Amino acid sequence: MEILTEEKISTSNTTTDFLPLEGTDYVEFYVGNAKQAAHFYKTAFGFKSIAYAGPETGVKEKCSYVIRQNKLTFVLTTALKTDNVIADHVYKHGDGVKFLVLRVNDATNAWHETTKRGGKSFMEPKIFTDAQGEVIMSGIHTYGETVHLFIERKNYKGIFMPGFVEWKSNYNPTETGLQYVDHCVGNVGWNQMNKWVAFYEDVMGFKNILSFDDKDISTEYSALMSKVMSSGNGYVKFPINEPAEGKKKSQVEEYLDFYNGEGVQHVAIATKNIIETVTELQSRGVEFLKVPTSYYDTILDRVGHIDEDLKPLKELGILIDKDDEGYLLQIFTKPLQDRPTLFFEIIQRKGAKSFGKGNFKALFEALEREQALRGNL
Ligand code: FE2
Repeated sequence: MEILTEEKISTSNTTTDFLPLEGTDYVEFYVGNAKQAAHFYKTAFGFKSIAYAGPETGVKEKCSYVIRQNKLTFVLTTALKTDNVIADHVYKHGDGVKFLVLRVNDATNAWHETTKRGGKSFMEPKIFTDAQGEVIMSGIHTYGETVHLFIERKNYKGIFMPGFVEWKSNYNPTETGLQYVDHCVGNVGWNQMNKWVAFYEDVMGFKNILSFDDKDISTEYSALMSKVMSSGNGYVKFPINEPAEGKKKSQVEEYLDFYNGEGVQHVAIATKNIIETVTELQSRGVEFLKVPTSYYDTILDRVGHIDEDLKPLKELGILIDKDDEGYLLQIFTKPLQDRPTLFFEIIQRKGAKSFGKGNFKALFEALEREQALRGNL
């Protein structure tokens, strides 16, 4: 496993960051029923209603609901008719992430820089205006049918973007402490990981900051390989997983089967207090993967001192890992839809910049128990 130091990352990028990203602006999901999905995410995860677009606002073919919690914004979009690319997407993939939208200072330049390096255009730079100003968007394709949109909103003062109206709702459950997107993981097909590593390096100027092979990530039954790609300034991180040969079907293969191709496996969301956040989420019915309680018998021998009491972590099933710079606390939800595809990770970083390698084995064994229950192992 290779870990680049921060110094190396920043020096190597001062010369090559042709795509400075300000962070994840929003994540847009294509779903079968956006009205119900928005209600689920508001109720279970504590999002607030922000904006809406649909027939009432002059959009004929789709409905979109924008919800937000702190710096985390989701857009839930559904098709209104069958003859529609959104309907096709949902038919093929089920509910899933369509757009990982990255905020930039110059969306026109982002499109030129990435497409001239081989990025396949999804949308040429386009200006959207209303009385609140203008938003410029452009986009390129990434793995599967997933798209990176670049959004420039420095000249916009409205609630979300032109075409949307404020969504006023009397129902806005209290927040659960979710803060922002920490990272988004993509699952790609056999022998495709290095192709997509090269895409993020060549087209988007990212660096490979961590690599795990099947020796790091394998259980008795299955294996996977993973490489973590980071934007020049480190604000955006996209780990990429590829299945590896094992005795049985790996979790990445199960995903690829049910998503019908490559796509976003999980969105990791940061919290400042994982015990409070997960207590609240569990009380609202969010289901998490559970590791055996024996995990906690030796955990402090492995990670050393932590500020939190072990008891609530053990009761909630929160995992702990450490690296040279500190430790992290993390937990993974079960799939958020009936297909065993997209799930969320909740993460609290206490210095650590890594991704929980020390938990992979316990976690994947927990995943395989769920996979076996579905008859897919
Ligand atoms: Fe993760």
